[in-house]
Amino acid sequence: MKKIMSIMLFAVMAILQATAQEGPTMGWSSWNTFDLNISESIIKGQAAYMVSKGLAAVGYDHINIDDGYFGGRDAETGQLKIHPTRFPNGLQPVVDYIHGKGLKAGIYSDGGYNTCGSYHGGDKTGEGVGLYEHDQQDCDMFFKDLGFDFIKVDFCGGDPVHNKDKLDLDEKARYTAIAKAIKNTGRTDVRMNICRWAYPGTWADDAGFSWRTTGDINPSWGSVKGILAENLYMSAYCSKGHYNDMDMLEVGVEKWGNKLTTEEAKTHFGMWCIMNSPLLIGCDINSLSTTNLNLLKNKDLIALNQDTLYQQAYLAAKVNDCYVMVKDIEKHYGNKRAFAIYNPNDAQKTVTLKFKDIDLADSVALHDCFTKKDIGKFFETYEVKIPAHGTKIYVAEADTRLERTRYEAETGYSKAYSEIEWNVCQYSEASYCSGGYKVGYIGGSNTNNYLEWRGVYSKEGGDYKLSIGYICGESRSINVYVNGKKVKNLSCNSGGWEKVGKKIVNITLEQGENTIRLVNTSGWMPDIDYIDVTPVVPTGIDELKASAAKEHNTYDLQGRKVNASKAHGIVISEKGKKIMK
Ligand code: GAL
Repeated sequence: MKKIMSIMLFAVMAILQATAQEGPTMGWSSWNTFDLNISESIIKGQAAYMVSKGLAAVGYDHINIDDGYFGGRDAETGQLKIHPTRFPNGLQPVVDYIHGKGLKAGIYSDGGYNTCGSYHGGDKTGEGVGLYEHDQQDCDMFFKDLGFDFIKVDFCGGDPVHNKDKLDLDEKARYTAIAKAIKNTGRTDVRMNICRWAYPGTWADDAGFSWRTTGDINPSWGSVKGILAENLYMSAYCSKGHYNDMDMLEVGVEKWGNKLTTEEAKTHFGMWCIMNSPLLIGCDINSLSTTNLNLLKNKDLIALNQDTLYQQAYLAAKVNDCYVMVKDIEKHYGNKRAFAIYNPNDAQKTVTLKFKDIDLADSVALHDCFTKKDIGKFFETYEVKIPAHGTKIYVAEADTRLERTRYEAETGYSKAYSEIEWNVCQYSEASYCSGGYKVGYIGGSNTNNYLEWRGVYSKEGGDYKLSIGYICGESRSINVYVNGKKVKNLSCNSGGWEKVGKKIVNITLEQGENTIRLVNTSGWMPDIDYIDVTPVVPTGIDELKASAAKEHNTYDLQGRKVNASKAHGIVISEKGKKIMK
């Protein structure tokens, strides 16, 4: 009996471990508020507040020590030393204290010899303390001896612009070697955050749990808006255990006379949630106002961040200069989705969202994630005023899920994509493009430098029309591949570099998920705005209804054309409006 109980307990523990927080890392980090001036009592204090303020209970489980704890390196043994006055008892009591609170402990280092603090903060104790040439020794100390659970690895020491020796190291080689050293410790649960201040490349999937995509955040609207602008197109690079890190939270932080307004803090936190960024609180937890504490504890928003589909919301549409970001939650291609309408502008905007743009139809029930209230059922459209710098975030549950037709270029993936390499594709803002961005520099002589959309979902499979919105001021070609098979070579010229042209190809999709790839292996490809994927013959009731709506006709649930008064269930009236019967 005892044995069976313990086997059952073991099984339950294994399930809990497997399901426990595989989403983006949540917790607190010392940098945004305390800079290099950290200490044993500060770190322990924040761990205690994390629990006492109820933040641990909603998922914030990491206490991360950032730059500032270093105390040089022993010249003979190479052993890393800890700052003698900031941490007079070393790091062990700090890690134990954090663990004792039921939390995980995080540490910080650099891929080169010298830390960022040693260069930008003039902190001499940060020289020669990076991981370079000490990968295994330091990883053994951090993860085997001290028991840390997380590491952020910065890169000032490897980037000639940020270190005094002008040392220039290869990011992929360094982070891959560090990942290996972590693995060699025997620990399989350690999360590495790659801090190279730009999307480093798809190789990062094999090395890190998350990676910074931008320079350092600060508590100003310009900073938050800028980081969002650089991440709205990153959804294809997020998957389970692989997250785009938009940097630590500035909610509740005041620095250099700057702080976010209530509306801006909501946008910042809400967008970090729906875009699956790590959520690392950056303020002094004890000083949080009730409003900010409640914002950080908003379970509806946190649930979007930790959703078990592990998706980053993607850009579905730009409406009245606001961005509509959407993602599936709980079930792939199901009727429940989360979406945000983000207004980066300095003026209030009225947005009329067409549910069709987020692949939902018929009756759509909306739940407001900020007010935590169900706000009602809506048909076809939803009109809302979004304040300047504001964001609304909803969970939508619809009667009908439509197949997605619009795939913006900014939701496409390229194996070659990197923000630290030259001659690979670039996502850039383009006001004349539908989502507000285009992807350029695709192709060249690099076979990995394609643009592709995975998960092009067809309920039934069959014949589709693929329309490609492209920009090209000269003649260039696009090779179209569907599920790995070449379908067509298109010769394109849209007549200008700010002019969107359209090419149409007939393709066949398999039932379920498909991949559409655009590439040119012999020269540069045109820039891409979007692709549209539409069934040639409406395949189901949803599509019939959608086309019926367009034609202002009336169809019943079987897709037969009928008189509105005779139809059963949901019908489309003569005016193209849906009515419930
Ligand atoms: C920067 C990093 C910051 C912080 C700082 C410490 O490079 O992006 O988040 O860690 O170094 O010096």
